Amino acid sequence: MPSPADRSPPILLRVAVLFLLLSTASAWKKDEFRNCDQSPFCKRARGRKPHSIPSLSAADVSLSDGAVSARLLPSQPLRQNTAGDDPEADRDPSRILLLRLSVYQGGVLRLQIDEDPSAPRRRFQVPDVLLPDLDDHRLWLPRLSSPAAGSSSSFYLADGFEAVLIHDPFEIQVRRKGSAEPVLSLNSLGLFDFEQLMVKKNDGEDWEERFRGHTDTRPHGPQSISFDVSFHGADFVYGIPEHASSSLALRPTSGPDVEHSEPYRLFNLDVFEYLADSPFGLYGSIPFMLSHGARSSSGFFWLNAAEMQIDVLAPGWDDSASPAKGRIDTLWMSEAGVVDAFFFVGPDPKDVLRQYIGITGTPAMPQEFAVAYHQCRWNYRDEEDVAAVDAAFDEHDIPYDVLWLDIEHTDGKRYFTWDRVLFPNPKEMQGKLAAKGRHMVTIVDPHIKRDDSFYIYKEASEKGYYVKDAMGKDFDGWCWPGSSSYPDVLNPEIREWWAEKFSFQSYVGSTPSLYIWNDMNEPSVFNGPEITMPRDAIHYGDVEHREVHNAYGYYFHMATSNGLLKRGNGMDRPFVLSRAFFAGSQRYGTVWTGDNSANWDQLRASVPMILTLGLTGLSFSGADVGGFFGNPEPELLVRWYQLGAYYPFFRAHAHQDTKRREPWLFGEHNTALIREAVHVRYSLLPYYYTLFREASVSGIPVMRPLWLEFPADKETYNTGEAFMVGPSLLVQGIYEKRQKSVSVYLPMGQSWYNMRNGAAYTGGISHKLEVSEDSIPSFQKAGTIVPRKDRFRRSSTQMVNDPYTLVIALNGSLAAEGELYVDDGKSYDFEQGAYIHRRFIFADCKLTSIDVRPAKIGGKFSSDCVIERIILLGLPSGAKKAVIEPGNREADVELGPLTLRGGSSLVAVTVRKPNVRIADDWTLRIL
Ligand SMILES: *[C@@H]1O[C@H](CO)[C@@H](O)[C@H](O)[C@H]1NC(C)=O
Repeated sequence: MPSPADRSPPILLRVAVLFLLLSTASAWKKDEFRNCDQSPFCKRARGRKPHSIPSLSAADVSLSDGAVSARLLPSQPLRQNTAGDDPEADRDPSRILLLRLSVYQGGVLRLQIDEDPSAPRRRFQVPDVLLPDLDDHRLWLPRLSSPAAGSSSSFYLADGFEAVLIHDPFEIQVRRKGSAEPVLSLNSLGLFDFEQLMVKKNDGEDWEERFRGHTDTRPHGPQSISFDVSFHGADFVYGIPEHASSSLALRPTSGPDVEHSEPYRLFNLDVFEYLADSPFGLYGSIPFMLSHGARSSSGFFWLNAAEMQIDVLAPGWDDSASPAKGRIDTLWMSEAGVVDAFFFVGPDPKDVLRQYIGITGTPAMPQEFAVAYHQCRWNYRDEEDVAAVDAAFDEHDIPYDVLWLDIEHTDGKRYFTWDRVLFPNPKEMQGKLAAKGRHMVTIVDPHIKRDDSFYIYKEASEKGYYVKDAMGKDFDGWCWPGSSSYPDVLNPEIREWWAEKFSFQSYVGSTPSLYIWNDMNEPSVFNGPEITMPRDAIHYGDVEHREVHNAYGYYFHMATSNGLLKRGNGMDRPFVLSRAFFAGSQRYGTVWTGDNSANWDQLRASVPMILTLGLTGLSFSGADVGGFFGNPEPELLVRWYQLGAYYPFFRAHAHQDTKRREPWLFGEHNTALIREAVHVRYSLLPYYYTLFREASVSGIPVMRPLWLEFPADKETYNTGEAFMVGPSLLVQGIYEKRQKSVSVYLPMGQSWYNMRNGAAYTGGISHKLEVSEDSIPSFQKAGTIVPRKDRFRRSSTQMVNDPYTLVIALNGSLAAEGELYVDDGKSYDFEQGAYIHRRFIFADCKLTSIDVRPAKIGGKFSSDCVIERIILLGLPSGAKKAVIEPGNREADVELGPLTLRGGSSLVAVTVRKPNVRIADDWTLRIL
């Protein structure tokens, strides 16, 4: 929730800000940010042709400690340097690089390349991202095979796959066993370059960079790394968030038919009014790319937290006469760090996700309330405003679960405090919400006001807990409270200290129904280069900010999440929303796409953005409903609610300068449309919660690209407009004003039922559909069963004991399957087996409920909830009654509506009041 326009920087800057305010309709400040040409490491690497730089060869290849090790040496003696303008002139050619290749269970190859111990300094390796027990899953390699005259070494990688290290020039390949063609390869194009650290000898370019009045000192010289990675057999590549784009597949950024484009940039930045379509870096970075093609999927992840730039190269980019078919080349460039890279063999796209999640961790299981609807605004003014908004939701019969307070609730942007005039009784305020089963979220940002009377500031300065500037003093940057310092959350001790601040004693005015929002944690520094911290600032362990930048927000999120965990004695699942993120953030909470704008293009871009986050581990994500900047016209707001109701994280939010836009402010008709959209989400909460469970076990995201469910259907590979919610539902957004019709491609292999009126559609073709204002197109796949709760309450917590509805969409063999997961929605008791997990199977006119909990698991979660209605789509007419076993009970069968609201048409066979318990085994036969 930033904006130069709202910042209060020092006087000099204010003039500039005023100018910006006056000058602009589209406000993205391109000039504020560096492009590739302004970053020497990027410009250099991008300018190279294949095999144009001195190559390295692998020597002394051997097995040690169950892994492959080798030394990388120049293939041929370096030419004598003559001209002084060669940046490689100062390199010490005698220093070798060390290479290590290791293999992990499930099809993961790890490549590490670092300088040898004689380097002047240790390069930074990102800690606390890989799972701590990862080494337990390493495979001990028993042997290396060297076929043709020792020119390469190959070894086992996974069933059906082997890894190959080609010696000279060195190249890494992942291959299907017995096939000469790789699945993945690194340095096939000879672009590998590794700038070794230097000891400063003289002044000059390499020791300093300047950008817009900021000087970046580089005491260790340039230290970038770049290399090529090729995805073979790939039609498209995806991933590497965060960028705003209308396309889910990554478009080429360089090559014959590409107009001038920047590479995809990974550099966590607080970007004011970002564009809807740009490779430019936003708030978070995950250097993980996946490929998909008709033959297989694969993935590549580079654990490196420095600025990264990635080119996706179009065929023929290197001027070769016969560009490779079915191969996508990419160029990876990072300013610092080491090579610590992972290759994932797939071959199914869900395998690639599992392999990535296997090293970075599964998404945290959220509390049930967090899956419901959140109401936010910058800012709800005071306690009266909070009470009035809360009451109005009830008056208008719109459920919601969480009310959010932005920065203005604090005493002068000192986080963990309250404005005494506006919020004199925070505990009472939270208590009133909690009485209706509702929760509150307050914002806690990393910038700490430099004010000795502020206890947090005082404590942290006394303990020396701040990031230091290049001179060794506490870094002082400008943010919301004015002059601020930033806790050095790279240090585990400081994270522990930070976590303590969330205890009820320490955070005065907080109660158990209060949860947290971390914003501005890129970190945002209004007067810093590119609105962030200078790269030469110093962290714990003498780490330069440039080395850790993209993970700063991750460590802050981690510390906050651990704070809530401690606060609840490890028994209350944290909820922490973060704007910045890195690989692994899924273990700590939720993210969103930051400060979007209220326009149709950004509504459209929200889907590829959220899908990309889901593919890279961050299943629990969403976009601000309504758009943060600007005032949405009512039609856009309604469409946004209709789409947002399907986002994994469903929150409305708005900038301080926008008009109020609570759902009831646009007339009866629009209120009814928004109410209906929110009701759709609440009725699907049991299905969503079940999907969150699946994500927390397997990493398969809640919201999925079509090709994740239909990997063989080529039509789906480049779709970013429609998406799957779990395996069963397909949703198509409406992204244009007054749109009358829309063409929806329904994947092949099954038929589909319209979720509102039950109409059946054939799969494998595009359907032109009329668009109505009351909903966006949504379909249930034939062969699936979706659990719902159709009684509306004030909040999800009040629905806990409500009965369920099952919607059974039958396929060609009159069969279907689905799951339901239920636990207490709050604690970790589920880890001990205290949950209900059922699989419903419909076949031969019989519905069976089966317990799918592992047989040996202890723990018990009981629920008296029953199923009050079963709706069957696609059942031939003639059903008369249902008989339930055990007990030989009968239930009525009749035609009924598909939804209780709106559609009154009688479309589906409905079993009324079977009243079977979700906790029990039973069968229900249709006669
Ligand atoms: C119908 O669905 C069932 C359960 O998901 C599945 O086993 C069966 O193969 C499907 N039949 C057809 C024709 O798709």
